[in-house]
Amino acid sequence: MATFPQLRLRRLRATEAIRSMVSETRLSPSDLIYPLFVCHGRDVRTPIEPMPGCYQLSLDLLLSEITEAADLGIRSVLLFGIPASKDDVGSEAYDTSGIIQEALRAIKQAVPQVCLITDVCLCEYTDHGHCGIVQGDRVDNDATLELLARTAVSHAEAGADVVAPSAMMDGQVAAIRTALDNSGHTETPIMAYAAKYASAFYGPFRVAAESSPQSGDRLGYQMDPANWRMALREVEQDIREGADIVMVKPALAYLDVITRVRERFDHPVAAYNVSGEYSMLKAAAANGWLDEPRATLEVLTAIKRAGADLILTYHAKDAARWLKGEQ
Ligand code: PBG
Repeated sequence: MATFPQLRLRRLRATEAIRSMVSETRLSPSDLIYPLFVCHGRDVRTPIEPMPGCYQLSLDLLLSEITEAADLGIRSVLLFGIPASKDDVGSEAYDTSGIIQEALRAIKQAVPQVCLITDVCLCEYTDHGHCGIVQGDRVDNDATLELLARTAVSHAEAGADVVAPSAMMDGQVAAIRTALDNSGHTETPIMAYAAKYASAFYGPFRVAAESSPQSGDRLGYQMDPANWRMALREVEQDIREGADIVMVKPALAYLDVITRVRERFDHPVAAYNVSGEYSMLKAAAANGWLDEPRATLEVLTAIKRAGADLILTYHAKDAARWLKGEQ
């Protein structure tokens, strides 16, 4: 059959119209989930130093940020809370008047069309900075489950449309599903941080969320970056426990994992383009070393091409603008 010179693959690259006709992957603002940090107070907009363009926002400013994102075509946000105070059991995580619960009620009223996803974890709320209850030098898996379940139910009660457990405790999805069902929230989906790696790329987030472990690390519960088969077992476990959407996190250094999860399972797959991935690109762009719009859209397209249906990204607003051809 045809080979060069009859066969010329460049024919399909000749014009923008042809290229767009044969484009295999299309990124749209509705693929993007925009993570946001909410703090107590009024008129607070605290820049997050390693994440240029990201802020800890008080509720009043958060509402305008979400409205702006919605106007750009972003359909959902992921909320992280900065509590007023921390303790060893992360009390504000499941307090009905906690920062996330207040935020959910206010956003539901002001911008009801936006899908509100909440991160369900204890690390922002504990004084030791671990994702669960600490006993000695270990995070106690089973003792943590009840608190995660309580947190998820309080989010659903306050208006969360989706809850996203990220603590990497075994059994957390089942515990949350049961608690949601028992409290009448049978329709609330769970987006499980299923394959979440112990990654250096969360560094900037921990500045943003003030959630660094005060001692030790997360290697006892988050995954070893060397493993992909284990990722499939994590995803399988979460699906068995009732996850509706499964997530791979981080995204860029784990594109192979995204592809394998996509091939093995039929659930929607989300990928988290994490803080460190954002910081790297922003830093290079700030130095003039990368063309920021092109590099950003290339990265997000690659994550989608790898198999992600949904992408959690701090670039969401910029990307939505650039997708429309705006500056
Ligand atoms: C909470 C949580 C983390 C991230 C999302 N949820 C931090 C961590 O596990 O240390 C990281 C997000 C990012 O880096 O953008 N457990």
